[in-house]
Amino acid sequence: MKILMVCLGNICRSPLAQGILENKVKDYHLTFEIDSAGTGGWHAGEKPDLRSIQIANKNNIDITAQRARKIRSIDFEYFDWIFAMDQSNLNDLRKQAHEHELDKIVKMTHFSKKYNLQDIPDPYYGEGDGFQIVYDMLSESIDCFLDHLNK
Ligand code: 4NP
Repeated sequence: MKILMVCLGNICRSPLAQGILENKVKDYHLTFEIDSAGTGGWHAGEKPDLRSIQIANKNNIDITAQRARKIRSIDFEYFDWIFAMDQSNLNDLRKQAHEHELDKIVKMTHFSKKYNLQDIPDPYYGEGDGFQIVYDMLSESIDCFLDHLNK
């Protein structure tokens, strides 16, 4: 199962989503290939935002080896599921995909019970507990996705 997490900059939300999913599937028998990308390339080559690294650390997840990259056309063909963090990411991705690739591109909260179809808010310019909210939304959404796979 090949899964790609996508946000705008690939330094805040999607690296965290990648790390959380990698952590949750550690004990799975299914083989997962998990990556993340940004719809924009401004931060390409950079490490995740320090605030994402910190909230991941707090939850015993290490995302420091990740480096940002921009989405590539081959990604649409390669991955089985492409998760967009918000509506703007979803619109961007759908514009770039071929018709037959559209079904695999969904919102991160697509399978979520608690946050169903909500956007994962962009925490970059925010203050306070933005990254905690992002973490909680990602964790629950990813649990629900894994439940879906196991059904
Ligand atoms: P992300 O957050 O999409 O969750 O990685 C952002 C990171 C950088 C910028 C915007 C959002 N930026 O404008 O540079």
